[in-house]
Amino acid sequence: MSVLLQTGKLYLLRKPFSKSCSKYIFHRKKSDVPRKFISFDEIVAQRRAEARQSLVVQVNSESSFNELHGYCSKYATINDIHHYKNSAGEHFMLIEFSSEENLNNVLQSCSSHKKEIDVMGVQSPFLWFRATSVKEKYAQNVTHLAVKDGSLSVNEDVLFEELMNCSSVSEQIQMLYDRTVLNDIGVRLRYMVARQLETVFSSLYANIKVQPFGSSVNGFGKMGCDLDLVLTNTLTDDLTSQKNRLVYQEKKSEGGRSPWQRHMELVGALLELRVPGATRVQKILNARVPIVKYSHDLADVDCDLCCNNTSGVYMSELLWQLGALDARVRPLAGAVRRWARAAALTNAHPGRWLTNFPLTLLVLFFLQQPASGPVLPPLRRLVELAGKEDTRVAEENLNCTFLRDLNKLPTESYSQNTDDLQTLLFKFFEFYSQFEFQDKAISINEGRPVRKPNSLPLYVVNPLEPALNVSRNVSYEECERLRLEVRNAAWHLESCLDGHKSDDWGILGLIEQKASRGLKKLLRVGNSHRLVSMKDLFNDNDELEPSAQGIRSKLEKFKKTEKLTEASDVTRGDKKSEMKFKNSQSAREVYRIRRNKLI
Ligand code: GTP
Ligand code: MG
Repeated sequence: MSVLLQTGKLYLLRKPFSKSCSKYIFHRKKSDVPRKFISFDEIVAQRRAEARQSLVVQVNSESSFNELHGYCSKYATINDIHHYKNSAGEHFMLIEFSSEENLNNVLQSCSSHKKEIDVMGVQSPFLWFRATSVKEKYAQNVTHLAVKDGSLSVNEDVLFEELMNCSSVSEQIQMLYDRTVLNDIGVRLRYMVARQLETVFSSLYANIKVQPFGSSVNGFGKMGCDLDLVLTNTLTDDLTSQKNRLVYQEKKSEGGRSPWQRHMELVGALLELRVPGATRVQKILNARVPIVKYSHDLADVDCDLCCNNTSGVYMSELLWQLGALDARVRPLAGAVRRWARAAALTNAHPGRWLTNFPLTLLVLFFLQQPASGPVLPPLRRLVELAGKEDTRVAEENLNCTFLRDLNKLPTESYSQNTDDLQTLLFKFFEFYSQFEFQDKAISINEGRPVRKPNSLPLYVVNPLEPALNVSRNVSYEECERLRLEVRNAAWHLESCLDGHKSDDWGILGLIEQKASRGLKKLLRVGNSHRLVSMKDLFNDNDELEPSAQGIRSKLEKFKKTEKLTEASDVTRGDKKSEMKFKNSQSAREVYRIRRNKLI
């Protein structure tokens, strides 16, 4: 996000930095000493403050903006309004007011839905805008929506076409990142979901804090990523100070993990009963860290909530910092994460395969290798440079102390390598195709391979608990597949170096799901006028439910267009088109899918 301004190094021309990014910079006073890096704590504090002075209001459509703006302006000053739709197509406005007091004025004017007797009143920052028969007149609104349809993800067909038209693999990697990274409204909404839990649970848990962690905040998140949340209710130093003689009577929480399991059970029940928008609540209480999973239908995010696991937040902080040190880290990790998903090396469900977190550590570790100058320092260096102000201790006395202010990091400890993204991606695959997984462990603490303490197939040292392996679940077969896939990927990228752009050139051949690769290739064929998605093939204005006849005629139409285009391409001597049907596997795949649809 802020890397561009932070490092001052530009490896590629990038689109202008986002409004939210500039906000963090320009909020600083002129008298502030110029700094290259903003700390994670500053970003989090700003996001939490934004959430405390924001509301999410369900509206009829984006044209409700004027009325909503006019109505809310009667009570408070508005900073800006962001519009988004959830996956059910419902419209929402996220309104940021100018202060928390301002927001409280609005909240005092809110009412409950009295008509329904089966509704139990609850106050939270998620509201709806009731229609009225008496239209009020509002002054002419000169402001506009800050964002319209803010949570819309990029269309994959469009993305693939844009990637196809890039001039280099580096540009592809950067574009993939820019088009898919979690955007400002995505982050705002995630902090709103956290804020909602703080609001609803505040009378039950003293000093409650619900913090997002994981990819929603560590800089590696993409649009639609899940939201990891941790609930803490530790008493502040002031409250535990000897000077305070009046002390709350409290309940004991004894018996190892079991009280936490019971709390999570309670939290799960509260989510079901008291939290608007929370649905599909699932309690997973026997895990090492008990969690409650739920979907937030109004914010359109899947959430994993746990209790007292602040090390997850410190881990996110560490990843965020390493990602902020150099502008190439996050785009590279984004491409690797996407490649791994396409190669089915990672999977959203837990199992004997890799997940995004250890995979990201693999990327960071590679970037620490000094072969052609390290891009990132080892964590050990950040620990050595830590001062008193960096001391952080998580639950079970876990020491999470490392340098927080990256401005204090000597410049020679990072960005010592000037490879472009394409070279880095190729070297990443090459590095892991030669890595001795059977003897060596990956440790971002040391920044070099270390001896494996046991014979587990893949060993990725947990940076904050070095005695633990974060990839202990990975099976021998999955590790072997990783080795095979990195070799294939290196081979694929190398074959692109001759400058010839086939229809899966560069990262296109790495990020398409294998199952649909052949089909997509066939349908895309590198030309925008021939870009056809299966959706278009079976969806026309005239029909809601495609009939077999309708589909057949569409297929005929499509086949004819294909033939025509092909013929004209051949006349033009277009080299790309010659490659179109070279893959008989693709043709078979199209046939199979067409046949299935017809039947
Ligand atoms: P995606 O959700 O896949 O986008 O990535 P993520 O980074 O959010 O990963 P995930 O949701 O699986 O985990 C959330 C966070 O929990 C990670 O970012 C880590 O900070 C932490 N985490 C995940 N797996 C482990 C693990 O095995 N050990 C420890 N200590 N922490 C973990
Ligand atoms: Mg996550």
